[in-house]
Amino acid sequence: MLRERIADFAGLVEPDRVRKEVYTDQEIFEREMERIHETVWIYCGHVSQIPKTGDYYTVQIGRQPMIMVRGAGGKVNVLYNRCPHRGNMICGDRHGNTGDQFRCSYHAWTFQHDGKLKNIPMMESGYNGTRFTRDNPDCNMKKAARVENYRGFVFASLAKDGPALKEFLGRSVVAFDDMCDRAPGGEVEVVPNCFRVIQHSNWKLFLENQLDALHPSVVHQSTGRAAHEVEKILARKAKGGAVPLSYHMLSAFATVTIDKWDDFQTINYPYGHCILTGYMGLRPQDPDTLAYEKVMEKAYGKKRMEEILGVNIHHVLVYPGLSVQSPLQQLRAVRPLGVDRTLTEIWHFRLKGAPEPIYRRSLAYYNLVNSPATLINADDLENFWKCHAGLASDGGDWVSFARHHGRDIEEKGVVSSGPKMGTSEAPMRNQMKAWAKYMHK
Ligand code: FES
Ligand SMILES: [Fe+2]
Repeated sequence: MLRERIADFAGLVEPDRVRKEVYTDQEIFEREMERIHETVWIYCGHVSQIPKTGDYYTVQIGRQPMIMVRGAGGKVNVLYNRCPHRGNMICGDRHGNTGDQFRCSYHAWTFQHDGKLKNIPMMESGYNGTRFTRDNPDCNMKKAARVENYRGFVFASLAKDGPALKEFLGRSVVAFDDMCDRAPGGEVEVVPNCFRVIQHSNWKLFLENQLDALHPSVVHQSTGRAAHEVEKILARKAKGGAVPLSYHMLSAFATVTIDKWDDFQTINYPYGHCILTGYMGLRPQDPDTLAYEKVMEKAYGKKRMEEILGVNIHHVLVYPGLSVQSPLQQLRAVRPLGVDRTLTEIWHFRLKGAPEPIYRRSLAYYNLVNSPATLINADDLENFWKCHAGLASDGGDWVSFARHHGRDIEEKGVVSSGPKMGTSEAPMRNQMKAWAKYMHK
């Protein structure tokens, strides 16, 4: 049907531009959910969200309501949040503990944590001679086709075929390695709960913005300047003493000017993943950092500690639904709700075994940059809404990704932005290349 309506489907995406319908068309959205979000590996949550047997978290994968639950022997299951009887959602709450079984609130069918039917009220008399026998798999809650966990980060794929998680993630695993390795204990722990923001735009606008290195010093300049003014006053008062690092988190939006963002680099991988290198200098020589380095050195030895703390990434995008800032233990999961409505879950993590001030640093970044209360996030949200509204208009047909097009460096399927071209739109081109591949299959 879609092919009939949009005759040249392949023509929606060109190497340096994309048709506006890609963002605004309801049928394209439905196909994206089917071909992308309900097929590829999608992040469900972290194992520390469900530490005890029976703990569960509900999560949306594409259009499917799902439940991530801790079962017998510590196994993490991902099930469709649907009763096989008459379709009732099994869990109405966002999270909780279901005890030793799931019990449907409608007619009290009960299920194990792996979805297998336990009991139906008066099953013998009610179902004798019907198709609903205990060994009929239709009586069970349906499972996600595949579930895998990488260093505690749980992903599910609703398609039985496709690359294994490790192969799918490729080099983007650095997001999870970098985050976990920075913990002296080698693990992170989620900080309950997350912020949830619904933006009035297509989901792809969020992902494109994450590695858009040109926008921060424009969109967030006013906030950066204000923070920098205060930072200067505090520096004068401190007479050479340290100013809290949290001011730097905001002032960097003004002090790292557009031209400086060109010094960074984006590296783009198959499946649409992307890494933005460079960082705003988070290894100061203040007492908190030095104390942390001591703990890290004890845990890993000097050489390995230097390797870990020397990892130079600002942002990793795991297409199509995850944005990770590993040096500060931040993670945002993108859940499309409709063609013009997108939920983001904004999480942060604690490094196991790290001193408390290091956690406070992560919390400060979470609150100051990523939370819905900050001006940084608010400025982005305004642009998302405005972009979507403009794209839905008749004012033009194309979205341009031409910045530094033709200057990318490609080697063995990996595309890097050229030297001094950190603001290249290579990440958007790469995402759309992956998108087109999924959609045309
Ligand atoms: S709908 Fe779940 S038991 Fe009837
Ligand atoms: Fe931004």
